[in-house]
Amino acid sequence: MEFCKAAKTECDKIIAKYPEKRAAMLPVLYLAEKEFGHISPEVEKYVGKLLDVPPVKVHEVMTFYTLIAAKPRGKYHFQICRGLSCDLKGCVKIIDYLSEKLGLSSDETSDDLMYTFTPVECLAACETAPMMQLNEDYYGNLTKEKIDDILKENS
Ligand code: FES
Repeated sequence: MEFCKAAKTECDKIIAKYPEKRAAMLPVLYLAEKEFGHISPEVEKYVGKLLDVPPVKVHEVMTFYTLIAAKPRGKYHFQICRGLSCDLKGCVKIIDYLSEKLGLSSDETSDDLMYTFTPVECLAACETAPMMQLNEDYYGNLTKEKIDDILKENS
């Protein structure tokens, strides 16, 4: 297991920005997540080798930062906010509705690897509560109708 040539070049550039290789851990893990889909134990070993740290140090970072996928995620990753502002604006109904539409419970991925459903804490867009992040995009002022439209666009 190793990066493709382009990813390895990118990795070398990232590492060069830091005084010590191990300081590049998070951006290299993000790159590895993009390249391999998630950070498996094998990827942890590979990243450890690249950064001259034992794999257990990579694993420690992986268990702390939940933003980096430790298991396969779906093509569409729904991260729906359950923070206070979203809760006050009725996110519970939206979360239940989306969960039912996807047929997934919290932190589940569909068998066909199309969808992952993850309730999360505040995504720092409280002014648009209730809201969610779908892959890189934010969707706010959610209603059941908006969820239906989003699902139609992303299926
Ligand atoms: S509480 Fe939902 S975005 Fe802040």
